[in-house]
Amino acid sequence: ARAQSRDLTRSWFRPVRPNKRHAVVTATGFTSSVVVRWGDKVVAGAPTFDAYRQTVEAAKTQFGYNCDYVGLVPLAGRTDEALLVVNHEYTNENLMFPTGVYTADEVKRLAMYNHGMSVVRVRQGRTPGSWKQVKVLSRCPENRRLHLDTRFRLTGPAVGDPRLRTKADPRGTTVRGTLNNCAGGMTPWGTVLSGEENFNQYFDAGAGVPAEYAAEYARYGITGAGKGWGTVEPRFDLSQEPHEPHRFGWVVEVDPSNASSVPRKHTMLGRFKHEGANIIIAKNGRAVAYMGDDERGDYLYKFVSREKMDPSGTRAARRHNLGLLTAGTLYVARLSGDGSADGQHDGTGRWIPLCDENTSYVPGMSVADVLLFTRLASDKVGPTKMDRPEDVEPNPVNKKIYAALTNNSNRGTEAMPVDEANPLATSMVRSALGEPLTAASGNRNGYVLELTEDGDRHTGRAFSWDLMLVCGDPAAAETWFGGFDKSKVSPISCPDNLSFDSRGNLWISTDGNVLGSNDGIFRVPTSGPERGRVVQFLTVPAGAEACGPLVTDGDRSLFFAVQHPGEITGATFEEQASTWPHTDDFPRPSVCVAYRDR
Ligand code: FEO
Ligand code: CA
Ligand code: CA
Ligand code: CA
Repeated sequence: ARAQSRDLTRSWFRPVRPNKRHAVVTATGFTSSVVVRWGDKVVAGAPTFDAYRQTVEAAKTQFGYNCDYVGLVPLAGRTDEALLVVNHEYTNENLMFPTGVYTADEVKRLAMYNHGMSVVRVRQGRTPGSWKQVKVLSRCPENRRLHLDTRFRLTGPAVGDPRLRTKADPRGTTVRGTLNNCAGGMTPWGTVLSGEENFNQYFDAGAGVPAEYAAEYARYGITGAGKGWGTVEPRFDLSQEPHEPHRFGWVVEVDPSNASSVPRKHTMLGRFKHEGANIIIAKNGRAVAYMGDDERGDYLYKFVSREKMDPSGTRAARRHNLGLLTAGTLYVARLSGDGSADGQHDGTGRWIPLCDENTSYVPGMSVADVLLFTRLASDKVGPTKMDRPEDVEPNPVNKKIYAALTNNSNRGTEAMPVDEANPLATSMVRSALGEPLTAASGNRNGYVLELTEDGDRHTGRAFSWDLMLVCGDPAAAETWFGGFDKSKVSPISCPDNLSFDSRGNLWISTDGNVLGSNDGIFRVPTSGPERGRVVQFLTVPAGAEACGPLVTDGDRSLFFAVQHPGEITGATFEEQASTWPHTDDFPRPSVCVAYRDR
């Protein structure tokens, strides 16, 4: 008999059971290995990581903290090597820095430079589906650390707006650094998009929060309760540089194939807590980016490019495609239910235009107003308040759009009543493994929304939708697994990042499981008789959130990020609750790859 297929889309596997282990646990027959850890060398000349001798100069050359999005971009002419592109979303200072070794200001600076992104060349390992970092860095000209000193060029209609100008950038065209990069996506033209999410947390009040932007700051959660960075870098002090926060909260585009290319922030895609951006090329050739604003009660968005993608692969085509995200139309979603008599959470919806590069469709707001303060613009046109829209991703096989709606403990309150797209005011949770389910207010386990553009026209305004998954323990009455037999599915809680394999199965990573287990990664078919059959493929170590997932290399490899292992209340560097991946006496967030082990 032949060995079982290495193809992750075809292999049958027994689901991983909920657990609290300090390990990555993959389904039997599979294994995983670490590809690159926090502190590992990224660019030539980087020193060997030493937790007790961290420096800013070293951090600028080493793999940053809290890896999140994972992309794998092909290298021209090769299949055995590729470029891994990773976000470093945020820092856990208590887990990163030994007590008493660094001053408070050193901690701030080291934390700053552990944010950003990394580009790392990787190569196939001996076992099919496995991958390793290429350690001879002189052979890796594309390797790159994007950090708080990296220059980003602003593009699109808001460039140069007075509210984007600062002392360091009086023309409002160039931003130093990117922050809180959460999810992302690969474009069909070979670049990577990355969302700047909770950027609001980095700004201090200093001498007082300026009143001029009170409404704008409030809508974005910019309170002045920052991380104290303003005392070591004045641009993070609102009283000294009130416009600096306007320069974050964008979608960033990076060309990983060219380490000297200038990364860009696209104002045309609006400013909010961008989770990520994922592109599909519409039938008429335009690029359509789907996006979520990850906040309780915020919105789903899409952007439709003015120009069509040129697929010809010439140098001129590439230049043209790099401009696609600078002009077009930005929309926000309104969802209407069709009633619950049909036993399904479903209905229709409209994409409401906010602006294009020349014209605002929001009364009283200019194009720049709409792009700089997109949340305030959307508030005026009546979109649907969603339960934390995270990854929003087109399925390349069935062309439908899937959105992870992680949770919303406020759903069902007066300010945020239930509707058919956000139907749960209570949900069943579990305090620990083995404990009974108990009711909690709000939507605690999240949903996966399926959105079908009318006629599969991704540039159009009308769509239909349904909740393919109402997550939770299948024993809870409110859960729904696409109509599949609930006695045969894995419990799933708090869907966050999404990805598709080449057969159109959805892969889901979770963040914040409230059923007593560690987070993990799940596979679920989106069509056919197995539609809705959620099976758990792996769990990540205790305290960690599962990020990334990316099925690639002929469906033999699942890349994923283990973010904040050991993030367990009360932990200090000396009393680590986790030492995963067990190479040191403290945890190291790492990108891993899972594959068949025999
Ligand atoms: Fe970084 Fe929206 O999770
Ligand atoms: Ca219905
Ligand atoms: Ca999340
Ligand atoms: Ca996440």
